[in-house]
Amino acid sequence: MPSIRLVDVTKRFGDITALDRVNLEIEDGEYVCVLGPTGSGKTTLLRLIAGVIKPTEGEIYIDGEPASRIPPQERNAAYLPQQYALFPHMRVIDNVAFGPMAKGLSREEAYEISKRMLEMTRLAWRMNSYPHELSGGMQQRLALARALASGAELLLLDEPLGALDARLRVELRYRLRELVKDEGLTAIHVTHDQEEAMAISDRIVVLRDGRIQQEGRPIEVYREPNSIFVANFVGGANFLEGFVHRRLNGSSIIQLRGGLRVRVLDTRFNLGERVVVAIREEATGIVPSSLKSKGGRGNLLPGRVRDISFLGSVVVYEVELVNGEVLNSKVPIQMDHGRFRVGDEVLLSLNPEHLRVYPYPPIGLYRELEAV
Ligand SMILES: Nc1ncnc2c1ncn2[C@@H]1O[C@H](COP(=O)(O)OP(=O)(O)OP(=O)(O)O)[C@@H](O)[C@H]1O
Ligand SMILES: [Mg+2]
Repeated sequence: MPSIRLVDVTKRFGDITALDRVNLEIEDGEYVCVLGPTGSGKTTLLRLIAGVIKPTEGEIYIDGEPASRIPPQERNAAYLPQQYALFPHMRVIDNVAFGPMAKGLSREEAYEISKRMLEMTRLAWRMNSYPHELSGGMQQRLALARALASGAELLLLDEPLGALDARLRVELRYRLRELVKDEGLTAIHVTHDQEEAMAISDRIVVLRDGRIQQEGRPIEVYREPNSIFVANFVGGANFLEGFVHRRLNGSSIIQLRGGLRVRVLDTRFNLGERVVVAIREEATGIVPSSLKSKGGRGNLLPGRVRDISFLGSVVVYEVELVNGEVLNSKVPIQMDHGRFRVGDEVLLSLNPEHLRVYPYPPIGLYRELEAV
């Protein structure tokens, strides 16, 4: 049964360190998504596990055995590269049946498995076409079907749904997870798409510049991002810079630009320390400015609606605070009553329970947010 362990794995290409002392354990039967911006080392990680390339330092273990002793073809892994190659002279069905037949299955058996995978990827109706006759998204689904039909217990999938339209992407990601769970496979699935990662995986591994920035169950990574980078990359958030101004009954008051203040529950930071306060857009409330007179409620920041975007299930209000900072408030459509117009004066309500505090990044907040 495939379990994978990476111990202090570093991969360098000349001066470039693509992966830097990565430690990672993947259990048998787990569905892991690797998430990270372009160039963060996702493909390198898959290629190392597939055995296409070797670590510069460190060791990879497959089922407890050092992978350096297991040739790629004996790793029982199906690697679907980001730039997959199809067999151009073979029909769709034969592209898929190639793997099972190479493993010794009869043509009949191989076709049966292949048809099942083509049905799953919604391509059975093009069974007799040639790859060049397929659209880009169909070619990707063919490559995926071929990887799935190979019978391998470990799936290494590099952006397997990247070329598909939104609907099919969502449908196939559920089918992929279902297949992995039903057949007891192990999957490592690379994606840029944080929503896909959250929907499909048991565990998310977030890479940045070749290092694991955070790993955990999707809900943990979403609720407790350990850095500005992860908060920004996974789910997005509003970020405000400030200083720890004073302590108040087990909470801290953060002084923002322009004299605004917010109360946070975090007391780990020293008085005077420069920090960044973050809150999810969907946790950022928006209320009419008239509420202020009623007084008493903490963390109401005055501003003006600058823009309104309708995104289907949510409405996003872009609000410019009186100090010039711009925050988004995401309101589910059924909660929104079209109360606000561009130019309206409003209050943003930042519930201390939802505010997280991070040290101010050495490269500056702006550049840190651009790192995604
Ligand atoms: N064969 C190679 N030779 C030189 N540099 C390489 C090679 N393969 C990868 N790199 C470098 O290693 C770093 C990580 O690359 P990798 O392909 O793993 O990123 P990625 O996270 O998959 O990015 P993307 O999301 O764009 O696919 C990059 O800086 C890349 O240029
Ligand atoms: Mg890649």
